Amino acid sequence: MEIIKCNSYEEMSKKVGVGIENQFEKNPFSVLGLATGSTPIGLYQYLSNSKVDFSKTFSFNLDEYMDLPFNHPQSYEYFMEENLFAYKQFRKSYFPSEKNYRNYDVMIQRFPIDIQILGIGTNGHIAFNEPGTSKDSLTHVVDLTENTIKDNSRFFDSIEDVPKQAITMGIKSIMRAKKIYLLANGKHKKDILEKSVYGEINSDVPASFLQEHKNTEVLYCE
Ligand code: GLP
Repeated sequence: MEIIKCNSYEEMSKKVGVGIENQFEKNPFSVLGLATGSTPIGLYQYLSNSKVDFSKTFSFNLDEYMDLPFNHPQSYEYFMEENLFAYKQFRKSYFPSEKNYRNYDVMIQRFPIDIQILGIGTNGHIAFNEPGTSKDSLTHVVDLTENTIKDNSRFFDSIEDVPKQAITMGIKSIMRAKKIYLLANGKHKKDILEKSVYGEINSDVPASFLQEHKNTEVLYCE
């Protein structure tokens, strides 16, 4: 695993977009794992304007806040609708929820993810797997760390409005994806990215587990 430095955010988004297009040309039934956060927005714009057809297949999103209605502008379901699903429809799109989270991993095992998109939190979290999360974790409810609540407060009117809990796909299911693209945008991600890619593999930096994944590409731009 190595960090591929891109010259711009557009270049990074396009590289991953083209990877997805190629995969879908080979197999239109490929399953996608989708991420939220600001980083994949460029990728979703690329895909929204692409000829790629997702209508035959499923997508699984990584995570969702607890206690936010689906039509809350900061819910991840709303985010996906706004940034991708309004332009590209999947046969079915799944989000982990209070109702389905005990079965989410079974569903993913039944329809294995071909390409998983990931961002990274400044504390090394992937999806909402915060530091301390085990490599064997399945979909679960998490208490968000202060660091994550603070980071994500930029999307809310005030820090008090940020949900304190979320439901996230665990590291075990993320690691099962056949191909993973980890995207990071901005100088503030550089240190944690280097720790994740070259540092010790342990749960203090959940993204470091990706070093054990056979087919992960890490793309970075400033
Ligand atoms: C949230 C999401 C993560 C995402 C992270 C980084 O915490 N749950 O999946 O990777 O934010 O967000 P950004 O891309 O905005 O830096």
